[in-house]
Amino acid sequence: MDDFLPTPITTVDIPSQPQLYPIWLQAGVLSHLGACIRSVCPNSSRWLVVTDETVGSLYGATVVNNLESSGFQADLVTLPCGEASKSLASLETLWQAAQHHGLTRHDGFIALGGGVVGDVTGFAAATYQRGVGFVQVPTTLLAMVDASVGGKVAIHQNRCKNNIGAFYQPHAVVMDSDTLKSLPSRQVAAGWAEIIKTALLETTAIPNDIAQLANLMSDHSLDSTHSRLLDIIARCIAVKQAVVAADPTESTGHRMILNLGHTAAHALETVSGFGLLHGEAVALGLRVACHVGEQLGVWSPQASLQMDTWLQQAKLPCSVSEVLDKEVHFLLADVLKAMQGDKKSNSSGLRWVIPTATSGQTLGAVQIRSDVTQHQIQQALTHIGIG
Ligand SMILES: NC(=O)c1ccc[n+]([C@@H]2O[C@H](COP(=O)([O-])OP(=O)(O)OC[C@H]3O[C@@H](n4cnc5c(N)ncnc54)[C@H](O)[C@@H]3O)[C@@H](O)[C@H]2O)c1
Ligand SMILES: [Zn+2]
Repeated sequence: MDDFLPTPITTVDIPSQPQLYPIWLQAGVLSHLGACIRSVCPNSSRWLVVTDETVGSLYGATVVNNLESSGFQADLVTLPCGEASKSLASLETLWQAAQHHGLTRHDGFIALGGGVVGDVTGFAAATYQRGVGFVQVPTTLLAMVDASVGGKVAIHQNRCKNNIGAFYQPHAVVMDSDTLKSLPSRQVAAGWAEIIKTALLETTAIPNDIAQLANLMSDHSLDSTHSRLLDIIARCIAVKQAVVAADPTESTGHRMILNLGHTAAHALETVSGFGLLHGEAVALGLRVACHVGEQLGVWSPQASLQMDTWLQQAKLPCSVSEVLDKEVHFLLADVLKAMQGDKKSNSSGLRWVIPTATSGQTLGAVQIRSDVTQHQIQQALTHIGIG
């Protein structure tokens, strides 16, 4: 039995939650998964490992074997790859598997994969027997820097993104940077979009050489276990953790700042029928938000240029014509309609998270605005090649 317990990089304290949760981030930490889980859920005996076809074939057996060698009973449930798995049908599969394998309230679900697996598994864990154990094992850069931390779990409903969900914090997050070695380049780039979003929110936390790092990584010249990359992942987690701790359930509005770039991004993802990756949509959405900011006079063209450089170095699209999936078409009317359906609209209209950089290059702050006009939105969409 492996009983070596690595040291977590941080412990997340959500004031409204009964438990603190540790986050491990280390190359090779998956070989100590059982010990990590035993330290947070000592009374558990059985875990359902939820994954997708690709991640399951790469890491499923390793994870199950490690849990078994740590004395747990472990069963693997494999969902199809892609956003379509954030569905009611997947939830039913997971609930039934939990019942079939006799999961009790002391046991739980492990999400082994990207944000898709994390979101749907978290919702299954939140709802099965009114809430059981939940451990995130993110294997994409995007899920490491963003999706696995913060406790938002959801499925899509009726082409409406993340429409059914919950706030359910994990009991632990275990990130093995070795898993990034098998991640395809397009998915690596998608992860950088959320890093760049975080850099706009909190420049002091993210080093200003991120463009160089993104470029090295997209050219496969930066090892995914490199300390500079691990440092950036840890800094993104720290920024998100601080925002989430201040407003865990988005009740004061502060947590909304994490949605920078996401007003347009969610609409673009929906209109593309998820042909556009979440991170690619965020890259385009950041450009839209920045352009709106320029029109409102709170964001400077120089700051936009800086961000565009970051996006280009990370090999992210700056306009819809650069989107790799050529089957995807974006009609202005469809995008505008999808935006109105987004959860961030309220009775007084769409609420935009706008980056601010009024004096020179001082990035790192945002405003929430409800006064963005239809004309300004259309101008910003033209900027990314729509309309
Ligand atoms: N809950 C949150 O706070 C939050 C935040 C951001 C994004 N999200 C959600 O996350 C989802 C996107 O997550 P994602 O970008 O991780 O996509 P994903 O989960 O679809 O994973 C991307 C692809 O990479 C493959 N993959 C994953 N890890 C791999 C590895 N190590 N090696 C090889 N292939 C691997 C997967 O099989 C999949 O095909 C969206 O649904 C988005 O809404 C949630
Ligand atoms: Zn996102």
